[in-house]
Amino acid sequence: MTVEGKVVAITGASSGIGEATAKLLAERGAFVVLGARNEDALQGIVDKIIEAGGKAAFKKTDVRHRRDVEEFVAFAVEKAGGLDVIVNNAGIGPISRFDALRVDDWDAMIDVNFRGTLYGIAAALPVFERQGKGHVVNIISTAGIQILPTMGVYAATKNAVRTATEVLRQEAGPHLRVTEVSPGIIATNFGDTITDQATKRKIEERLGGIAISPDAIARGVLYALEQPPEVDVGSIVIRPTAQS
Ligand SMILES: NC(=O)c1ccc[n+]([C@@H]2O[C@H](COP(=O)([O-])OP(=O)(O)OC[C@H]3O[C@@H](n4cnc5c(N)ncnc54)[C@H](OP(=O)(O)O)[C@@H]3O)[C@@H](O)[C@H]2O)c1
Repeated sequence: MTVEGKVVAITGASSGIGEATAKLLAERGAFVVLGARNEDALQGIVDKIIEAGGKAAFKKTDVRHRRDVEEFVAFAVEKAGGLDVIVNNAGIGPISRFDALRVDDWDAMIDVNFRGTLYGIAAALPVFERQGKGHVVNIISTAGIQILPTMGVYAATKNAVRTATEVLRQEAGPHLRVTEVSPGIIATNFGDTITDQATKRKIEERLGGIAISPDAIARGVLYALEQPPEVDVGSIVIRPTAQS
């Protein structure tokens, strides 16, 4: 019941939930490999983990590009000698009403949230098959459970991941674990990815006061990882108590 010695690759690890997860898992003895586009942020987080006695490395990765994600996973395997877990966490939320016709934002969410996660699965699966073990953790959202106005495309990308996750779980066989984690409103930089200013203001007014720390999600991921190999935690929903 420990993550000590596990190699965990995390996309979107330069801030928020990915950063919190990397720090917690490293604190518990995992070798964490961080991917995202902001190299300075990644370097700063890795330095802190190593200063605290943990094991970490990073690689600049844009999950919109399949080759980047493949190279990210290959880097993790090379640095740490294998890969136990991939956490497909990178995500953006430039939400808006459909009639705002922000079609570029829709494409961006499909590319990062859905395609990026599929690329993570595609990169990790051959490694897991070779090793005869592995764990895919996909970060989804409660936005796909209670589906609200302005969240149509965002929720659709997250529920596309949910669908893919369930099929992967069924296909996975006895040696591959598959977990989805659905966070509710979490205090991260995520709101900065909202490009429609009117929507951004409304969301901040409505949700700002109740957001909880990304550490809550990190603890959820840790729970799934530290179960014995025969125990597959399928789905975890973690939201603020005050979230309706
Ligand atoms: N915050 C919430 O309320 C909430 C609720 C439910 C679900 N979630 C989900 O949680 C996940 C993490 O979000 P967060 O709340 O921690 O927000 P965040 O602080 O904005 O973190 C998002 C991460 O994704 C990375 N990212 C964005 N585009 C990327 C790309 N093309 N390639 C690689 N990395 C990329 C960002 O790094 P770079 O910019 O450096 O690339 C950053 O590290 C997302 O999937 C989000 O949908 C968040």
